[in-house]
Amino acid sequence: MLSVSNLSVQFGKRVLFDDVNTSFNNGNCYGIIGANGSGKSTFLKILAGKLDPTSGHVHLEPTKRMSVLEQNHNLYDDKNVLDTVIIGNKSLYDVKSEMDKLYADYNDENADKIGVLQQQFEEMDGWNAESSAAALLSNLGIKENLHFTLMKDVDAKLKVRILLAQSLFGNPDVLIMDEPTNDLDYETITWLENFLANFDNCIIVVSHDRHFLDSVCTHISDIDFNKITHYSGNYTFWHESSQLALRQRTQQNKKSEEKKKELQEFIARFSANVAKSKQATSRKKMIEKLNIEEIKPSSRRYPAIIFDRDRVAGDQILNIENLSFTLEGVKLFDKIDLNIAKGDKVVIFSKDSRATTAFYEIINSSENKFSGKFDWGITTSQSYLPIDNHDFFTKDLDLVEWLRIWATTEEEREEVYLRGFLGKMVFSGEEALKKCNVLSGGEKVRCMLSRMMMFRANVLMLDEPTNHLDLESITAFNNSLKKFKGTILFTTHDHQFAQSIANRVVELTPKGIIDRYMKFDEYMQDDKIKDLRNKMYNN
Ligand SMILES: Nc1ncnc2c1ncn2[C@@H]1O[C@H](COP(=O)(O)OP(=O)(O)O)[C@@H](O)[C@H]1O
Ligand SMILES: [Mg+2]
Repeated sequence: MLSVSNLSVQFGKRVLFDDVNTSFNNGNCYGIIGANGSGKSTFLKILAGKLDPTSGHVHLEPTKRMSVLEQNHNLYDDKNVLDTVIIGNKSLYDVKSEMDKLYADYNDENADKIGVLQQQFEEMDGWNAESSAAALLSNLGIKENLHFTLMKDVDAKLKVRILLAQSLFGNPDVLIMDEPTNDLDYETITWLENFLANFDNCIIVVSHDRHFLDSVCTHISDIDFNKITHYSGNYTFWHESSQLALRQRTQQNKKSEEKKKELQEFIARFSANVAKSKQATSRKKMIEKLNIEEIKPSSRRYPAIIFDRDRVAGDQILNIENLSFTLEGVKLFDKIDLNIAKGDKVVIFSKDSRATTAFYEIINSSENKFSGKFDWGITTSQSYLPIDNHDFFTKDLDLVEWLRIWATTEEEREEVYLRGFLGKMVFSGEEALKKCNVLSGGEKVRCMLSRMMMFRANVLMLDEPTNHLDLESITAFNNSLKKFKGTILFTTHDHQFAQSIANRVVELTPKGIIDRYMKFDEYMQDDKIKDLRNKMYNN
């Protein structure tokens, strides 16, 4: 379908791809993964013909069509919804808009021109195209009364569906997407996952969202060592199997038949889980074709995120009574009563992210314009990862000096001690002597995690902890929180984080709280809770 031959890409001295040969086939969905800056976006741009490689070729089978999901949600703000979809077929749209322009200023002279354009339009099956664009929109849940609304007046959540309709217009054979779930809410991501899992043609997608990758991918395409390697299976399979292969590599005493048997058993177990999954789509069924020859260890370095506790907390963790908060006249949450029990792992959720952030700021005494009260148990110690860490990184310090700010004993002030925590977050040697005010978003979060580990608290609070992190860090972080024996309050847009860590869901709404001891998926799928949620947000 789509192939790449002898592709090399270099920016200045930096080589991103070196003689890559690979192909992407019909019916498959490829999840492109790789470290930050490894060249994922660059690769997609080259596939889409938006960027020329240093050498080599991209070849799309003749008669096949490729389309790209637009990342900029506001690019078509001055166009109406239907036109935005039709732009998906550029040449058709150009003829149509030229025709519309001439009609608007109709005279004898341009009548001839209109005639010519009309003929072209008919040859391109233009009239049917319009009705099929409308049908596509309706299938994606965009009602007809919106079809002639300007994009700038459309709800942000619907825009992505319209842009998806644009990329699907004319049923492309290859669909390319770069981080499509960024900035989408839970409902829209779930909708997109289901839609793509049932889309039959080839998809090539970059994402850091493991739940998304697991729901839609038949293959994982790993960018490493300036090459791209495809593996059958979804992200969880890729991660688990490459970790298993890595462990096996160090077990020299184990016979190769034993290792092979272990891998086979792993595949059997994994495939059984996939088959049991509730929405076993055609794509998921393809994962049955996994084979052990493919399994190789990954070269990635995973950070070692380990949250120890200085002491175990008593039974009183946090008690909240009648807590309300209003921001600029908008009630974000109202009269909340909440008792957090020892060992609870609570995902705190709200449709308005300002509500959850205000909640953490209040219980960490950084926000005082609230009513009601909260009390921490005296045996608790807290550690908080705020969504905005900007204020932590204003001083001109290297990372060792930076972390030393929070040291409380002589031992903790020692460089080796501090470097231990930085090293766990993959800042070793020279890296630990970087200045803290030049760090990238992901590096700052890694520093904040070194700091949190050093605190050895028994209550962790995390406001969107996966922001800016790469897949390796997210996976390591997720696993460490699953193992943590203390109490966790957290808010995340990462579905797998929420689902795999929390045993309790608390939703903050303008009309109070919904509080359930259950898994996140169960909460989101429960019809009674859905009704309740609708009532709690509607004024
Ligand atoms: N036009 C360009 N000129 C020079 N360097 C670039 C250009 N585009 C991207 N890069 C660099 O190439 C690397 C890969 O970028 P990108 O493909 O965006 O990475 P990813 O999407 O995997 O995070 C980065 O180090 C980036 O800074
Ligand atoms: Mg990118």
